[in-house]
Amino acid sequence: MSGKFLSSRVQALELTPEGVKLLDQTALPGKVSYLLIRTAQEMANAIETMLVRGAPAIGIAGAYGVVLSARHYTSRTELSLDAMREAIASDAEMLAQTRPTAVNLFWALAEMEAVLQRVDTNPAELLEALTEKALQIHREDIIACQNIGEHGATVIPKGAGILTHCNAGALATGGYGTALGVVRSAFAKDASIRVFADETRPRLQGARLTTWELVEDGIPVTLVTDNMSGSLMQAGKVDVVVVGADRITANGDTANKIGTYNLALIAHAHGVPFYVAAPLSTIDMAMPSGERIPIEERNPEEISTINAELICAPGVGYYNPAFDVTPAKYIAGIITEKGIARPPYAESLAKLFNH
Ligand code: MRU
Repeated sequence: MSGKFLSSRVQALELTPEGVKLLDQTALPGKVSYLLIRTAQEMANAIETMLVRGAPAIGIAGAYGVVLSARHYTSRTELSLDAMREAIASDAEMLAQTRPTAVNLFWALAEMEAVLQRVDTNPAELLEALTEKALQIHREDIIACQNIGEHGATVIPKGAGILTHCNAGALATGGYGTALGVVRSAFAKDASIRVFADETRPRLQGARLTTWELVEDGIPVTLVTDNMSGSLMQAGKVDVVVVGADRITANGDTANKIGTYNLALIAHAHGVPFYVAAPLSTIDMAMPSGERIPIEERNPEEISTINAELICAPGVGYYNPAFDVTPAKYIAGIITEKGIARPPYAESLAKLFNH
């Protein structure tokens, strides 16, 4: 590692004395607007409605939601310390009910829960310890992403065409990105790389968010629709695919935004290496393989409407899973902050955790 890192101008969330300042990702790229989230309930709504999204960012948002809960209950002096801890734990449980697939949320809430269990002295110390833990989760995510970027840049050939899906960038993390962290680090070394962003139906995270944050940071990017990846690879324009992850199981199977699996198959057919970039907090070593990953089903309106206009015949059926699972056999490497895991993943991922 060089120890000298790039940063991004883009930041999805920040803990302030008044609450959590959230960049409203549903309004981008048309409007750059911020919301002040003041309660755990507001944070749960923000996660559920995707004002904040992306696995690591959801984890950080969950941790900050617990801090907001602690701010509220530790100011209620009529409550005993045990009653406060119980109320905060119940808010953490509510935050856990928001989005099921990204394991970072449950990982971050478990970290907060451990602090909640440990600190039994007084409300002020409890609030301070929970705040420090949440800030640490945020800080360490940025550092992890910068290290992912450094490791990932080593697999990007000179002048490569890089295709990415959804948004696994600064917006989806503490502030640097996983797949886009690799792009940022590669671009810093070689400005001739070319980035292609899948539009990513139905929520358009690629078109709305990936293009916006790369343009903000001065990295040229070309937008393609999801059904263009085959033709793009046939034309020889893609040298490597890099995507993020919401949950990676112990054998390397990877849940990520719907359409990632299609992309892996097309990349496989064209001999294009397909990489997943994710911090260790996205790896669920307790889950042996991908078929057990809970896949979030979202509102059918996401696929039946565009700008609130119905785009299909009334009365049709809907299927709207937000994520799919790419089998490990299609993944050339999993780029983490501790290095790149290669197949067989059962061994290489376990080794990363033991170092
Ligand atoms: O539904 P979203 O927008 O939260 O889905 C985001 C993704 O699928 C990302 O690729 C993943 O969370 C990794 S973010 C670094």
